[in-house]
Order: sequence, then C-alpha cells, then structure tokens
Amino acid sequence: MRNPVIAGNWKMNMTVSEASEFVCEFLKCLKDFPDRVEVMLFPPFTALSVLSTALRSSSVKVGGQNMHWASDGAYTGEISGKMLKDSGCECVIIGHSERREQEDNLTINKKLGTAFSENLRPMLCVGETLEERESGSTLTVIQTQLSECLQGFDRQQIAKLLIAYEPVWAIGTGKTALPDSAQEVHKQIRNWVQSKFGIEAGQNISILYGGSVKPENASDLLSQEDIDGALVGGASLKVHPFCDIINAVKNI
Ligand code: 13P
Repeated sequence: MRNPVIAGNWKMNMTVSEASEFVCEFLKCLKDFPDRVEVMLFPPFTALSVLSTALRSSSVKVGGQNMHWASDGAYTGEISGKMLKDSGCECVIIGHSERREQEDNLTINKKLGTAFSENLRPMLCVGETLEERESGSTLTVIQTQLSECLQGFDRQQIAKLLIAYEPVWAIGTGKTALPDSAQEVHKQIRNWVQSKFGIEAGQNISILYGGSVKPENASDLLSQEDIDGALVGGASLKVHPFCDIINAVKNI
C-alpha cells in the first residue's frame, strides 16, 4: 500500500527567521498527524540548514527545490546535490514548471541521475500548459516529459522516485484540476510507469497532485485512487492550512 505524501514547496518565500517561527508552530501539530502520512518541506536554500536541524528528531523530511547536475565546479549561483545532502536534505524537487523555462528534459534527466547517485530522493514534476490542455495534447506532453526525463534509469532507481503532476494552469491561479480529471492523468502516469518499469514499479510509485491545493479541496483530491499525495505551494506557507491539508489524509 502506498503511504500518502504531503509536501510543501515554499518557492522563493520565507526568511530564516520566518522559517524558524513556522517550524516552532509546526512541531506542535505533528502529534495529531495521521501515522501513515509522509511529510516533506522544500524551503529556499537559505533556510535548509535551520529547518533540517529543527526537524531532525521528527519524521518530517527536508528537501531542496532544485539542484545542478554537476557535483561541483564553476557554476556561479548553483547548488549541488552534495550541498543539499550537507544541509540535511533527503529529497529534491526536479523539473518544477517554474524552472522548465531554463531547463529542458535532457537537463532534468541529468539532474535526476545526479540526485539518484547522491542518494537524494527526487520528486519529478510534470504537467501541461493551458494551451496544451486546450489543444487536447495533455497526455502526449506528459508522456514525452516522462520518457525523456526518465530515459536510462532502472527499476531500483524508479523505486526511489516520486512524481508530481502539476498542471501549469493550476499553479498559483486558484484553479484546481477537477478531482476526476486529475485522477485520469494520474492513472495514465501510473500506467506509463508500469509499462516501462513493471507492475511493481507502477503500483508502488507515489504520484502527487500539485496546483492550488487548499484545505477545502484536499480531501476530494486525495480520495482519488491514483492521487497519492499533494505538492502544496501557497497553502504551505502558513502552519494551520498546511496542517489541515496533512490531516485531510484522515478522511480518505
Ligand atoms: P500552488 O499550491 O501555490 O498553486 O503551487 C503549486 C506548486 O507549484 C507546488 O510546487
């Protein structure tokens, strides 16, 4: 059985002191969380160390929002997987749509390879734009993203991967995919993984939904068969809405 995963992507928000305040309050809520849920927080790089230290004795995992494919070198302004590990990260978001303007599937593929070799659990983001959805090419777009980004990996690596389906038109817009249309895409993603990497890989992989997830819509989304969790942006910036989304797992 797949355990639900609820992840907060803070994007370019939260100073170190704001992150510390958040975590103080958040730690008080942990005891109420359902046992099965896996919680992840993706703060900006500057708050990684403080957050991973504060959460060290909890089950909450901390991750980076991006990383470079090289392990070190002359890449001004970049962060390596090794540095993420050094800051206490266990996971990393790769290929978020807000980064895809600067990186193609080939680069994402290289980053995933580095994440696997650094022993960081990657969360690969896929999703279509509004234009692609309206032209009826959602599934083709997602299959291309999956096949180019996951080219060359084996079943052992795929067993560590998380996938987040984030329709670009639903991110930060307040427009959420309807639960049954999100479910349809999730099912296709699972079928694709199954066809390339086998039944076990398809059944075990966690596929999260992201795009305007809020306490009000979380239960409906999470109760869909192939929606195994949520990647939450705006609603993860405040402790109580984020905890309400985590606790929505109790209703499924
Ligand atoms: P919002 O929840 O703010 O729409 O952001 C979703 C997202 O991009 C998470 O990675």
